[in-house]
Amino acid sequence: MHSILVTGGAGFIGSNFVRFMLKKYPSYRIIVLDALTYAGNRENLSDLEKDSRLTFYHGNICDRTVVDNLVSHVDAIINFAAETHVDRSIHEADSFVQTDVLGTLILLEAARKYKIERYLQISTDEVYGSIEQGAFTEEHPLAPNSPYSASKAGGDLMVRAHYKTFGTPTLVTRASNNYGPFQYPEKLIPFFVTNAIDDIPLPLYGDGMNIRDWLYVDDHCEGVDHVLHHGVIGETYNIGGGNERTNIDITQIILKTLNKPDTLIKRVADRPGHDRRYAVDTGKIEKLGWKPRFRFEDAVEETIQWYVKNESWWRKIKEKQKAYQEFLKKNYEDRK
Ligand code: NAD
Ligand code: TYD
Repeated sequence: MHSILVTGGAGFIGSNFVRFMLKKYPSYRIIVLDALTYAGNRENLSDLEKDSRLTFYHGNICDRTVVDNLVSHVDAIINFAAETHVDRSIHEADSFVQTDVLGTLILLEAARKYKIERYLQISTDEVYGSIEQGAFTEEHPLAPNSPYSASKAGGDLMVRAHYKTFGTPTLVTRASNNYGPFQYPEKLIPFFVTNAIDDIPLPLYGDGMNIRDWLYVDDHCEGVDHVLHHGVIGETYNIGGGNERTNIDITQIILKTLNKPDTLIKRVADRPGHDRRYAVDTGKIEKLGWKPRFRFEDAVEETIQWYVKNESWWRKIKEKQKAYQEFLKKNYEDRK
């Protein structure tokens, strides 16, 4: 395998993955296909601009002509492209279905047509729904609760159907909540870090006791690389950090690290359909030889400091999303 199409490579995890792969495999070539939606950002790849092994293509995974043309030049596809934010999916779900379901199908059809060696779908633990105790294995039925996770589940099922019906060589990974550099500042950690830096309130949903399993983005990238090279075709692999924290814990870590007062926490109305807890059993990928390497305490500290040092990166983004934040604020108030 020498050339890979990475869709959504200008987003948070995709850009970290491209950097990770080019460093690890000097002979690989990567084509990034990214629509540069509000979440896509060429700056996320700016340090790699002069690397001749990377080609950036501005286009949509729903565009068959573009997809066919690019897929005809590669050995593998990794699909990171998606609409990804739960709160946005509650207000507008069309683009989620379009990209996360239809876009996935279009990529799968091209993978089949051009006899791609491996198609890897980047999915999420959210497709299993919420779990009070224990952890979901890959065998658990899908029970998504938000329009985002329902769209991702739709994509996963399309992947399954393609493998079963056409023998398309597919793999699926389902990761838990990622954190790290270049995450769009609407997701919990970068949103709260950047608000705290500016002494703006941190809107904590509900009782703040919802639990997420936090995975450092480089550990996720290593897991994806591992499944790409060693995964069994047709199989699904969970990827988790083994780091369960309540939202209030995360909030307090952020405030303490930045030396900011707890009074910045603003309790707001809960997110509708808010999943209480996510947890995945990672035994299957561990048997394949992967486990997370980063200690949460170190990686979260490093991540917070990255946002402190890279203010110019997030300030431009936050300036552009002011109207959206105002809209959300009004929404919590209306829900009360
Ligand atoms: P992100 O929102 O930061 O980036 C998504 C990228 O996809 C952007 O660059 C965007 O421009 C691009 N994109 C969107 N629609 C497109 C389209 N139609 N055609 C081409 N490009 C398009 O997302 P992320 O957090 O980096 O997530 C990447 C993938 O990982 C997603 O599939 C997501 O479901 C999955 N995932 C994310 C997490 C997490 O915690 N962030 C956890 C598990 C799984
Ligand atoms: P998020 O980063 O949106 O990821 P996901 O919902 O996909 O897990 O949110 C993580 C958790 O933080 C989730 O339980 C919702 C909560 N949250 C808040 O309390 N306030 C916020 O402003 C945001 C964005 C999230």
